[in-house]
Amino acid sequence: MAVQGLAYLVTEVAEVEAWRSFVERVLGAQLVENADGLTVRLDERAARLLLRPASADGPVVAGWQVADERAAHELAGRAGAQAVPGAAPEAAARGVEGFIGFEDPSGQNLELCWGPLDAATPFCGARPHGGFRTGELGMGHAVWSLADLGVARSFYEEVLGFRPSDFATVPGPLYFFHANPRHHSLALGELGFVGLHHVMVEVLDFDDLGRSYDAAIEGGWPIISSLGRHTNDHVTSFYVRTPSNWAVEVGWGGLLIVDEASWQVRELTEGPSLWGHERTWVSDEMKVRQRELRHQAAAENLRAPLHLPAGMPADVEGVPLR
Ligand SMILES: [Fe+2]
Repeated sequence: MAVQGLAYLVTEVAEVEAWRSFVERVLGAQLVENADGLTVRLDERAARLLLRPASADGPVVAGWQVADERAAHELAGRAGAQAVPGAAPEAAARGVEGFIGFEDPSGQNLELCWGPLDAATPFCGARPHGGFRTGELGMGHAVWSLADLGVARSFYEEVLGFRPSDFATVPGPLYFFHANPRHHSLALGELGFVGLHHVMVEVLDFDDLGRSYDAAIEGGWPIISSLGRHTNDHVTSFYVRTPSNWAVEVGWGGLLIVDEASWQVRELTEGPSLWGHERTWVSDEMKVRQRELRHQAAAENLRAPLHLPAGMPADVEGVPLR
């Protein structure tokens, strides 16, 4: 009985027009407009990101998928939480049969949902797009900065059933957890604020990562972490700040944890990135420290294998270069 993956995110946004441009140009995802606001599709699912227009940006609510309604109530009960059932129209907007909402120990709202529903039409990106890596891996991963990491870790691990992947101390304490073969669906850190730091969406085709990077640079979107490669999930990615101040990591080539029994939880002493990921948002001291770690990784000839995502749709082949 545990969370199976990240199903969706819901939030209120002040800058609707900027979001429209961000989703279509930077992510190349599919935008569906409806009475509630903007719904972002990444795949066959009806909704992966719900953006509700408001006078100010609101906190981001994560929708975590569980097996069924019984599992949702059992997990909420284990949390000792007062769970609020989601109304039918709200469930429909999220593309699920149902959900319940409650707070984690840090006061962050979360939802447990079941019965995912596909949209009536196939996914169609805002530009020709090879698609996002979702399915049993969920929509991606979310990284939260919280105030009391000890309490939060035991809640997500012991109550919601996330399994530890690994942990780091640079650029700050960060603990990574998986809920399916994706290396992490959740990471928790203490980064000096409470809220979502970023969500990662993974593209199936490497060229879509580059096209998102181009679009972010051309559009003047703040790139808070340059192109780089992570030491733990081996993802090649960059991070761009959304109009709501939290970031999206656009990534490619994530490692999967296929054999739970042999997986070893370790500290990432080599730092967060094999190369790149020059972060604008850390202190000057931390920038120097991270550069030192990358120099050391290069000097020690540290490398990671490439993980070519399986199951790319046929149309990702696009038009071959001649
Ligand atoms: Fe990430």
